[in-house]
Amino acid sequence: MIIIRKTVAINSHLRIVGIEEDSLMYVCICNAIREKDLRTAARCCGGSAHAVYAALGHIPQCCQCLEEAEDIITEEVIAGDTIVSAAA
Ligand code: FES
Repeated sequence: MIIIRKTVAINSHLRIVGIEEDSLMYVCICNAIREKDLRTAARCCGGSAHAVYAALGHIPQCCQCLEEAEDIITEEVIAGDTIVSAAA
């Protein structure tokens, strides 16, 4: 089952993106960082986008991706806190 997360414009067409497909998308083109890899790194090391990129062995270059990266990292931190809270 694909959970509809958002729509994006691809080649002037709106496209529905599910979580599975979305996780394969690149967040950072300069460093070829996929969303799924950013989420995994965020769960392991946390911190700012710069810190998570460093954990992946990269540094931001054009910085166009940093706002989205910070949003994704925040989602993972919140999800991690929710899991820890539920287990406590
Ligand atoms: S797209 Fe991430 S640094 Fe350029």
